Amino acid sequence: MIILSPSILSADFAALARDVDVVTKAGAQYVHVDVMDGHFVPNITIGPCVVAALRKTTKSVLDVHLMIQNPNQYAEEFLKAGADIITVHHESNLNIKQIYSLTRAYGKKLCVSVNPETPVENLDQYSKFVDMFLVMSVHPGFGGQSFIESSVDKIKYLRTKYPNTDIEVDGGIKLDNLKMVIAAGANVIVAGSAIFEAQDPAAAVQKFIVGGV
Ligand code: DX5
Ligand code: ZN
Repeated sequence: MIILSPSILSADFAALARDVDVVTKAGAQYVHVDVMDGHFVPNITIGPCVVAALRKTTKSVLDVHLMIQNPNQYAEEFLKAGADIITVHHESNLNIKQIYSLTRAYGKKLCVSVNPETPVENLDQYSKFVDMFLVMSVHPGFGGQSFIESSVDKIKYLRTKYPNTDIEVDGGIKLDNLKMVIAAGANVIVAGSAIFEAQDPAAAVQKFIVGGV
């Protein structure tokens, strides 16, 4: 089953509760929350207080993508705020054992990601700790970029090696490349601009769900 995780990076930050409600009612199962610290990526976005505010407005799975240099320092704040999935980056200052124990203590899921320039084999070392892998298909930092084609082979590599692990893809996913990433093995699909910048975000969610079958 394909899971859609709309990225609120492209939503209206002054009306997040409304935008989350629209995509959830249209059938999206997750809400993708892009956290950026201005160090790991050249952009600053959302902190734990926004996750806590979202938690009060939705029962959906909060899929929190930490694009931050020191994930171990902040992961617990996001878990306390109500994150259901914490994604950290291989390229950050990551202590996997500590963050694994922490997410398990909260009964939540852990995911590790690689940036486009990082070979996918770097994820193998995390396989016994994670519930999900995330393949970044754009350079992290901004929504609305073009899909990087080499991500398809990374997804195939992970799906072949880890048939029972969730594989998420994030960046540049549109209706015209959706089938390709699903055929490669992705089962959790992040889409930001394709949904929230569409004229009708609810219709866009429905098209993604139909297109993903
Ligand atoms: C990029 C973020 C993505 C991004 C996706 O750093 O991690 O989640 O918002 O947006 P689109 O779908 O517009 O590429
Ligand atoms: Zn993301």
